[in-house]
Amino acid sequence: MAKYTVVAMPGDGIGKVVLPEAIRVLDAVGFDAEYVHADIGWEFWVKEGNPLPERTVELLAEHKLGLFGAITSKPKAEAAKELDPALRDKGYVYFSPIVGMRQRFNLDVCIRPCRSFKGNPLNFIRRTADGGFEEPPVDAVIFRQNTEGLYAGVEWTDPPEVVRKALETHPKFERFKDVPGEDLALSVRIFTRRACRRILTAAFQYAKKHGYRSVTVCEKPNVLRETSGMMEEVAREVRKDFPEIELWSTNIDAQMMWLTKNPEDYGVIVAGNLFGDIVSDAFAGLVGGLGFACSGNIGDEVAVFEPTHGSAPKYAELDPPIVNPIAMILSAAMLLDHVGEEEKAKRVRDAIGAVIAEGKVRTYDMMKLPGGPEAISRGAATTTQMTDAIIANL
Ligand code: NAI
Ligand code: MG
Repeated sequence: MAKYTVVAMPGDGIGKVVLPEAIRVLDAVGFDAEYVHADIGWEFWVKEGNPLPERTVELLAEHKLGLFGAITSKPKAEAAKELDPALRDKGYVYFSPIVGMRQRFNLDVCIRPCRSFKGNPLNFIRRTADGGFEEPPVDAVIFRQNTEGLYAGVEWTDPPEVVRKALETHPKFERFKDVPGEDLALSVRIFTRRACRRILTAAFQYAKKHGYRSVTVCEKPNVLRETSGMMEEVAREVRKDFPEIELWSTNIDAQMMWLTKNPEDYGVIVAGNLFGDIVSDAFAGLVGGLGFACSGNIGDEVAVFEPTHGSAPKYAELDPPIVNPIAMILSAAMLLDHVGEEEKAKRVRDAIGAVIAEGKVRTYDMMKLPGGPEAISRGAATTTQMTDAIIANL
């Protein structure tokens, strides 16, 4: 029997392409695991009215470790239209299976490392004063609170009367009190002290373990005084146990500007759900974009690793496939770290680094080519060729 069992959830579109590639790499590096397939995504919404079937939830509860590709999701009306006619008007409402999975298992710590690889033609470059350019090495790790904030799902258009009444007790609601219900939309930003403490503790522990000198809280406490304010307050408390690490604070808007000015100055970054989503995409853009952006969703019991990209339907059916498997493979390396197989994780990352540094095998995104079948005749590597090259360098 294998030492680990991993729940493999390819999902939709290119999720089905990249996940098997990551498993090939895990096998090649000698990870002693077996994989059980689990259903997730659009197909199961259409056929069963549930993109995250209960059997998948049970597999995750049993095995605790998941690798996830990507899913397709569509707006409310479109989702309802595509539902199997036999299931229509029975109260099924589409809800993102990933957001659902995060909430179901309280996968509240999302880690998104954004590290540049030497020689990646997609790395951010910056002009120098003398008109030349330089390529600052980026090594930022974003800790995104994954279950609360504006993604908590507490929202209304035309809020119920009791909610309106409650809002009217706030003096700042005065301006809105005459807005008709159907013209009033609310999304509630919910932070809890417990979740703030968990994300901040995880971030400081990570900074300490990996030798980062700073943890930056990236919020907006001057405006969002209660929610961002709570994150900052808890940060100061948590920091007391990590005196060797500096605590910095930036506003999300200013951070987006400084990002391209001095990205090399940042180490570990902590943010709430939406700001974490934004700042992690922005940092990912400096190190190669969606083909390189990996992540882990970590709870007390269950952990699921996934690339940040979606199902890229445009490229899902291409044969041979052209999408970059590196984001998925880096996510698999995070899984290795998580279970304590750090030496194997390092070998995987070093192999990716070697392929990129050599520069002979590059997927279409790395060549800045438009995606499509003609990318291959213009010299781009296929998905499989990229994985093969990585395996050859292990
Ligand atoms: P997307 O991430 O699927 O693709 C956007 C573009 O990024 C692609 O057209 C392609 O040019 C590029 N790209 C993405 N992954 C790549 C890779 N591995 N290698 C090279 N290039 C890559 O985002 P989009 O098009 O906005 O959404 C498509 C579907 O995916 C939607 O249904 C959306 O809801 C869903 N989605 C799912 C996510 C998830 O499963 N975690 C995250 C984001 C979107
Ligand atoms: Mg995002």
